[in-house]
Amino acid sequence: MSDPQWWQRGVIYQIYPRSFQDSNDDGIGDLKGIEARLDALVALGIDAIWVSPIFPSPMADFGYDVADYCGIDSRFGTMDDFDSLLAACHARGLKLLLDFVPNHTSDQHPWFAESRASRDNPKRDWYLWRDPAPGGGPPNNWISDFGGSAWEWDEATGQFYYHAFLKEQPDLNWRNPEVVEAMLGVLRFWLDRGVDGFRIDVLWHMVKHADFPDNPPNPAWTPAMGEMFRVLQLHSTDQPEVHGIARDMRRVADGYSPERVLIGEIYLPVERLMDYYGRGAPEVHLPFNFQLIEAPWKAETLARLIADYEAALPAGGWPNWVLGNHDRPRAASRFGPEQARVAAMLLLTLRGTPTIYYGDEIGLADVPIPAERVVDPRELREPGKGLNRDPVRTPMAWDDGDTAGFTRGEPWLPLHDDWRTRNVAAQRGDPGSIWSLYRDLLALRRERAALHVGDWLPVECAGDILAYARRHGDERMLVVLNLGDRPQPFAIPEWAGELAVLLSTRGAGADPARLRADEGLILG
Ligand code: NOJ
Ligand code: CA
Repeated sequence: MSDPQWWQRGVIYQIYPRSFQDSNDDGIGDLKGIEARLDALVALGIDAIWVSPIFPSPMADFGYDVADYCGIDSRFGTMDDFDSLLAACHARGLKLLLDFVPNHTSDQHPWFAESRASRDNPKRDWYLWRDPAPGGGPPNNWISDFGGSAWEWDEATGQFYYHAFLKEQPDLNWRNPEVVEAMLGVLRFWLDRGVDGFRIDVLWHMVKHADFPDNPPNPAWTPAMGEMFRVLQLHSTDQPEVHGIARDMRRVADGYSPERVLIGEIYLPVERLMDYYGRGAPEVHLPFNFQLIEAPWKAETLARLIADYEAALPAGGWPNWVLGNHDRPRAASRFGPEQARVAAMLLLTLRGTPTIYYGDEIGLADVPIPAERVVDPRELREPGKGLNRDPVRTPMAWDDGDTAGFTRGEPWLPLHDDWRTRNVAAQRGDPGSIWSLYRDLLALRRERAALHVGDWLPVECAGDILAYARRHGDERMLVVLNLGDRPQPFAIPEWAGELAVLLSTRGAGADPARLRADEGLILG
């Protein structure tokens, strides 16, 4: 690879802004808070931050319901605070990505207020309005991702509107060229201000079948899965026309520079995911690859999945990997504290851009939320099915103070109970901590071209061992991960006989011929 861009070499770090750092004691993180912690992120060794939505919002879905795409919510600060954060990032060589939420607005967005005002309002067609089905009732059987019908009745104008998520999040009509123009204008607004790109919320949802046919039932559905899985989202998502929109967005970004990056949030099987790189014309630079979040943690499964993903990438398509985000259980809860370290080594040694979820670097696990403190609308609508996202959105812990250095007020969600020891300050001073492991992994990844741009090659393995090579020019590296909690033998391939152990998730005393329980090794 001759000239990789920063978003290929670098590592992205997701910040959930409500939970990163509070600067004014209201218990909610904000932009000034993020700015105050940038040096800690530089010390960790990341290259870019992606900040979940910071725009004015009634917060029905904590910012994923946007009421003004070109402003800053006062809870997070002001436009001056934003400009200051962006300048502070750039002064440190960090990139800043925003979260673009194009599928739906808030029901408080002025566009929706106009759209619902009357059937002949010029913005009526900016959203998806339909008459009731014959005999009354919703126009079809589509189900909201947060449970219940995806159609909301509007008494005043006698039609239903469509919302893939909450009724407070009406879906925009992306078949209307005025919507396309207005929303591309939003991208330009932020790109003109200097942002380095966007994570695009639910990109695959943006266009629906023009005729709104019923979705087929899901034969595998059980009530415990949550209502959204009752039907297959065949006609409500991933329609061919979405690719035209993704191309339009890419043209806007490319009009600035190849360094402005678009990352699409897309939960689809790999074959369909690949289409979002663009066939014929480029679409998003990185369609998020969530397989490490979804797959069972078994060496054989992961080995196959990585090889299949590599094989499925289109020519020129750059891979990417994600271990956690603000919607899914945290790595430390899925794998346990020891295996979470192995997972970090996997994330940061695969080929392609990794995204780290804030807090994973201190081994933060899902935090139990007492019933009276639950705020996630998803949990409130479908309680007790394990859908609550509050546990993965809890405050970051910076020190052992009474509120972990996150705030001097009452945190909006509870802290983990071991914050006195599980915090950045404590872990920075401990070479054996998971924070230090992340820092060492990031440093090694930055230093070695084999890790940040090299090829990925499978290595024969058995049992709980997952092994692969990274190669760039003459540089060869070997990664060996024990995904189990028992020691495992490993047959070192001949070509790697001379390589030295550069890093172990378990510290000194590593022997590549016999991995300790829950041990990951990098040789080079
Ligand atoms: C995906 C986001 O990640 C999630 O948090 C949000 O609730 C939905 N999109 C709706 O915007
Ligand atoms: Ca605050």
